Amino acid sequence: MIAPATPVARAYDRWAATYDTAPNRTRDLDAEILRAHGPELRGHVVLELGGGTGKNTTWLASRASRLISLDLSPEMQALAQARVAELGLPEDRVSFLLHDLRERWPLEDESVEMVVGNLVLEHVEELAPVFREAARVLKPGGTLWVSELHPERQRRGAQAHFADAITGEVVRVPAFRHTVSEYVNAAIAAGLRVRRLGEWIEDGAEPDAPPRLFTMRAKR
Ligand SMILES: C[S@@+](CC[C@H](N)C(=O)[O-])C[C@H]1O[C@@H](n2cnc3c(N)ncnc32)[C@H](O)[C@@H]1O
Repeated sequence: MIAPATPVARAYDRWAATYDTAPNRTRDLDAEILRAHGPELRGHVVLELGGGTGKNTTWLASRASRLISLDLSPEMQALAQARVAELGLPEDRVSFLLHDLRERWPLEDESVEMVVGNLVLEHVEELAPVFREAARVLKPGGTLWVSELHPERQRRGAQAHFADAITGEVVRVPAFRHTVSEYVNAAIAAGLRVRRLGEWIEDGAEPDAPPRLFTMRAKR
């Protein structure tokens, strides 16, 4: 279950209306990298963490044998549900859960082949419980894929933010800085085997700009 309206949920409820349309290079690069370099999903049961408005959910849903998409913002998730409905997939193919991923996940042990989290761990202070839950729900041999705002960008002050659609107020969503070693060590401590790290930047970026995204693939 979800605690009613955490500050992060409230912020994303406000952002939902413009999340897909306002310019956002991090969002766009994340979509591109997942599709080009993300794990092979076909035939797998996949859990998506922080699915948001469904930018990646539709892509995951059309490849996975079953997708569970979890988020704590009702407004973001409603948009994802509408998007997935347009695909006309069988009803039991995709489930949406309103859930705070800092709480125990409502899934059985060893029940999914893949856990995918894109641009969500920035909003989670403690990484260890999240990686422990991933290790718990993954089947042996299963894959965890994480894609996040690059720690170097965070260190320079970057943080998820948006302009409120009505007031124009710039809102910075509560966020926590994580280093590469924090991600890697949280995975190792949970018993996962880190397989590949990635650092990505969009075409046309300034030559001295830091990478925009950090990705990690780990195996149970
Ligand atoms: C930047 S959006 C990313 C959405 C989507 N993954 C994407 O790449 O476009 C972050 C999402 O994570 C969700 N989120 C943040 N903290 C969360 C938490 N503790 N539990 C579940 N979802 C969370 C937010 O509600 C939001 O929808």
